[in-house]
Amino acid sequence: MDYFELLRHRKSTRRFTDEQISQDDLSRILTAANAAPVGSNQYKDIHLTVVQNRGILDKLSEAAIKRWEDRAKMKKIIGDTPNVAFSQRAIDPFYGAPTVIFVSHRKQDLQPGIEFSNVACVTYSMHLAATELGLGSVFMWGSLEAMREIPELDNTALLNLPDNFQSLIGIAIGYPQQALSERDLATDKISVNHIS
Ligand SMILES: Cc1cc2nc3c(=O)[nH]c(=O)nc-3n(C[C@H](O)[C@H](O)[C@H](O)COP(=O)(O)O)c2cc1C
Repeated sequence: MDYFELLRHRKSTRRFTDEQISQDDLSRILTAANAAPVGSNQYKDIHLTVVQNRGILDKLSEAAIKRWEDRAKMKKIIGDTPNVAFSQRAIDPFYGAPTVIFVSHRKQDLQPGIEFSNVACVTYSMHLAATELGLGSVFMWGSLEAMREIPELDNTALLNLPDNFQSLIGIAIGYPQQALSERDLATDKISVNHIS
């Protein structure tokens, strides 16, 4: 696929089959993560955790499910975001995907906010690689944010992270129940102003 064809196929998948992705595809996705740009070339500040254990994923999803119980708060956070079914989220923040990759960053305060930019670049690179491989994927923020918000449900110890790292985002990956299809590319979703 050329780049714009890839972009036409890229979308968030929220329905997966149970079939596990191959080791070869996983390794390509991890290669894509390593190909992402990272601020100040500090790749050592980033850590990936590949979870392919259903029991651990279920445990990690507890906080997200708990958070979803406060519907008023959720409405405030996500507003009327289209295409996100409330009920689905309450069941499983990973949407049944058999592989979830958590992207963690070393805690730091030298360049405030750069950790979020870094993990976004790495995650998007994996999202595009998954698309190219015909796999579905979706960013996963809610359950991690929930674990930060509800400390008693913080299950990040299960990820066995290196010292002083925190998981900031994840990507759920698997075979989509419906093959990825092309969508038209828009030019007006994000506002632009030009200064000449
Ligand atoms: C930083 C970030 C966090 C996101 N977190 C979630 C999430 O927790 N759960 C989810 O279902 N989708 C999540 N998404 C996916 C967005 O909802 C989705 O990309 C957006 O609605 C556009 O839809 P599309 O990806 O199908 O084009 C996230 C996307 C980004 C970039």
